[in-house]
Amino acid sequence: MEQSKDNFLGEAIKWWKEAVVYQIYPKSFCDSNSDGIGDIKGIISKLDYLKYLGINVIWISPMYKSPMADNGYDISDYYQIDEKFGTMEDMDNLIKQAKLRNIKIIMDLVVNHSSDEHIWFKKAIKDLNSKYADYYIIKDGINNNPPTNWRSIFGGSVWEKIENTNKYYLHVFAKKQPDLNWENAELREEIYKMINFWLDKGLGGFRIDAITYIKKDSEFKSLPADGIDGLSNVDKSCLNQSGIEVFLKELKTKTFDKYDCMTVAEAPGVPYNNLDKFISDDGFFSMIFDFSYADLDLNENGEWYKQADWTVNQLRELIFKSQTEVQKVGWGALYLENHDQPRSINKYVPEQDISYYSKTMLATMYFMLRGTPFIYQGQEIGMENCIMDNINEFDDISTYGQYEMALKEGLNQRDALKLVNKRSRDNARTPFQWNNDNNCGFTDSKPWIKINNNYKVINAKSQIDNPNSVFSFYKELISIRKNSIYSDILIYGYIEPCLTEYDNIIAYKRTLNNKSLLIINNFNSKNISIKLETDIKNIILNNYTNFRNDTICDFQPYQSVIIEI
Ligand code: NOJ
Ligand code: CA
Repeated sequence: MEQSKDNFLGEAIKWWKEAVVYQIYPKSFCDSNSDGIGDIKGIISKLDYLKYLGINVIWISPMYKSPMADNGYDISDYYQIDEKFGTMEDMDNLIKQAKLRNIKIIMDLVVNHSSDEHIWFKKAIKDLNSKYADYYIIKDGINNNPPTNWRSIFGGSVWEKIENTNKYYLHVFAKKQPDLNWENAELREEIYKMINFWLDKGLGGFRIDAITYIKKDSEFKSLPADGIDGLSNVDKSCLNQSGIEVFLKELKTKTFDKYDCMTVAEAPGVPYNNLDKFISDDGFFSMIFDFSYADLDLNENGEWYKQADWTVNQLRELIFKSQTEVQKVGWGALYLENHDQPRSINKYVPEQDISYYSKTMLATMYFMLRGTPFIYQGQEIGMENCIMDNINEFDDISTYGQYEMALKEGLNQRDALKLVNKRSRDNARTPFQWNNDNNCGFTDSKPWIKINNNYKVINAKSQIDNPNSVFSFYKELISIRKNSIYSDILIYGYIEPCLTEYDNIIAYKRTLNNKSLLIINNFNSKNISIKLETDIKNIILNNYTNFRNDTICDFQPYQSVIIEI
């Protein structure tokens, strides 16, 4: 794409706006050495597959040294690759091999917390007067109780008592993930040094974990309980607190700004009227994830066992609200799935309607929105949720926590299991289904987590050469977005909601320099007639073979089309 071209907003042209990102959950992608755990050599062996799909950035969930209490989001050494995944040499080779295929690698950056097995934390606990004690958030207990009543994200208090003392350390997530104290300037410098070390290796950038938790309410006071555990949601005291902008600005200036890199932040809690600080041209990050529509099935505390009812019209409203707010100020990230979410098809489409049509319709719906699309591993072959029959089959700290909370709230074991099954993060973490051989081509030995038993039907091998597969449809979507005469419109074009008078239709127009595309997605399980009020020049993509191309168009169940008008 020409770099000099103007577009409607005079919007800056950036490589990461034109990218299509693929997320790898390394434990579950491909195992090269038969230990049942995915690894870097496994990823390298699949680069040609990803190149063929057409993506050009890979985000890999953490592979740093870790005791794996939260599957790598608990880092004990930021400068080492965990031996389960390989070596630093393998990592360098991955960056090199990807580059040969014009693919950039971005890593996860987890700096809200470290592992309790990080040397800093070990030194802190050993000597509470050492400088490392101030790298963490350590406070006195009150009458033998924790300093405040804040509830951690994975359940239970955020405070863990330090043995033989009256002091507690704070962990917003699990107790093996002590929060780093960003108020400490020396610690911040350590973090920046580490980030630059990785960027100097030639990384394309970072996905930044839980970054809006780095500033805590300085008063450290208890709040009214919001659950039967007597605790109060930690978000009220530790999420996007005022003053955080000072840290984020410094982080950017001392690291990302020096490189032409892409940063995508997991930044829950940023209100739309605050977005510009985060994602405008000189914002803290290239883009952030908006969780409003990914979490529309949850209540406001995010508890999985209190799922909320929702409608497609509400989903549409949330998506368009997000799109229009982001468009006012900057750039966004588009996604349906990640390693913290169940499979999108199970979330957004009723079970009886799961099919090739509904999977490809969902894909078109989000892929043509304005922003950089992310595909989560397995989504491109239509992988589905995996039902676990027993709580012990899960390997996710968050699932355990939600299950415990559900039991405490009075649910019986069967109902608690049913609800966590719907939402468990392990739905997305079962091994990638490469083929219909034993262990789905993921490993030669026992996989670290159960394989979804639908792998004989849903697997990459059966789809790659089949023009009518979900895989081929994704490949086509990527190619239209990246390498077609419509790429400019689809990347830089203005977005505008359309046809909102129709129930269960998510439609929008993308426009650039007087050229427009109309994207229409039918979430109805029945035919619906839609009056288009415009001439159709060309049908660019259609997930059905036919399309009634009159002024009144008949949309079939889960039909999805991209039309040039
Ligand atoms: C968000 C990550 O996506 C999730 O997997 C992790 O458990 C938490 N942050 C804590 O790092
Ligand atoms: Ca392995």
